[in-house]
Amino acid sequence: MGDKPVKIGLLGLGTVGGGVARLLMEKRRQLSAYLGVELELARAVDLEPSRAEELGLESGVFSGDAWQVIEDRDIDIVVETVGGLEPARAMVLAAINQGKGVVTANKALLASHGLEIFQAARQKKVGVAFEASVGGGIPLVRSLRDSLAANRITSCLGILNGTCNFILSRMTAQGEPFAQVLAEAQAKGYAEADPSFDVEGTDTAHKLAIITSLITGAQPRLADIPTEGITKITPMDINFAGEFGFKIKLLAVLNNQGDKVEVRVHPALVPHDHLLASVEGPFNALHVNGDWVGQVLLYGQGAGRRPTASAVVGDILELARDLAAGVPGRVPPLGTQANGGRLQELAPLDNAVCQYYCRFAALDQPGVLAAVARELGAFGISIEKVTQKGRQEAGPVPIVMLTHEAREADMRRALRQIDALPEIVEPTVVIRMA
Ligand code: HSE
Repeated sequence: MGDKPVKIGLLGLGTVGGGVARLLMEKRRQLSAYLGVELELARAVDLEPSRAEELGLESGVFSGDAWQVIEDRDIDIVVETVGGLEPARAMVLAAINQGKGVVTANKALLASHGLEIFQAARQKKVGVAFEASVGGGIPLVRSLRDSLAANRITSCLGILNGTCNFILSRMTAQGEPFAQVLAEAQAKGYAEADPSFDVEGTDTAHKLAIITSLITGAQPRLADIPTEGITKITPMDINFAGEFGFKIKLLAVLNNQGDKVEVRVHPALVPHDHLLASVEGPFNALHVNGDWVGQVLLYGQGAGRRPTASAVVGDILELARDLAAGVPGRVPPLGTQANGGRLQELAPLDNAVCQYYCRFAALDQPGVLAAVARELGAFGISIEKVTQKGRQEAGPVPIVMLTHEAREADMRRALRQIDALPEIVEPTVVIRMA
């Protein structure tokens, strides 16, 4: 065992931070033996002293002052599980400037300020690790950064938000309403402090931004990632999709076209026989295509205290090992030594090509189907399948179609025409297909 312990300063004792503290305490002996260096949870910070009591922290470990811990010369690695943009950003940058390694689970922070943080870390030659920021316990960041580094990643499809996947799985299996399932997801500790980040797709967009950084070495602006959430998904559409042989999942999509990269977040119909269709509940998965490796599926628990703490402590071990070996910052945060920081151009959503699920709410009268098909045809969009439900006593009937591949812009224009038809009485529901 080396002489000098590696000392951890943990900022935040919430769902993730509390899990990290517990894991570091429970496995201190094993982890230290694994490293060959004593690994010590030296300080832990929270605004709520009761959290420290519940965790049973040793006396002298708890502090109410994050800045004191960041400035403490004895601390080697600062672990940020505070969340949000500020003061988390200032704390992470201050820790780096103090020459400390940083582990963070903060996807919102990295999605917005990742490049600033990574550049600061490279300048100060300290490690920054962020496995827990995407996919909870799944070793996804390190797989993209290291294990798949020899590849050109051509595409990725990800289920990256446990809350949304939990909600959609429950709505599919039990037909429970959206709000009730959301409350359950919150109670289980999957959801963000503001759950609109989950259900509006923002959290998935944060994670896609980080994945894009790992694949391209640069970072898209969040505002440039087309993002739709799951709030408009209804049991009716889940049922129709099921009848056609699909599940509805919230997907992060990346297509690397070489000169351009296409990134988007939206609900999508996934065929029952696609590997991602069997990812249920709070589980996450990333389906990756690399030019040499072919297909890879990374799968596991994407949220929750224990899986996320597992990823954070894995990062702590990586930084501690490099510190103990006297090579802090050995691996640049994004893996690459190239420091261009310029993103490939983003492909506009208008040019995306995919198949579409459409549900039209139509008056039950002759010629409606023909009118809809004519408008689609006018934009070169052909129909693969169609189903119309039987007559209802009152109100519109749903006509559900799957189209062949079409350009997004053409689809949007066709829908504008269709929604203006007198026989179409509600805005058409459109969901892209994976
Ligand atoms: N709110 C996130 C989720 C937590 O539901 O996946 C993990 O990032």
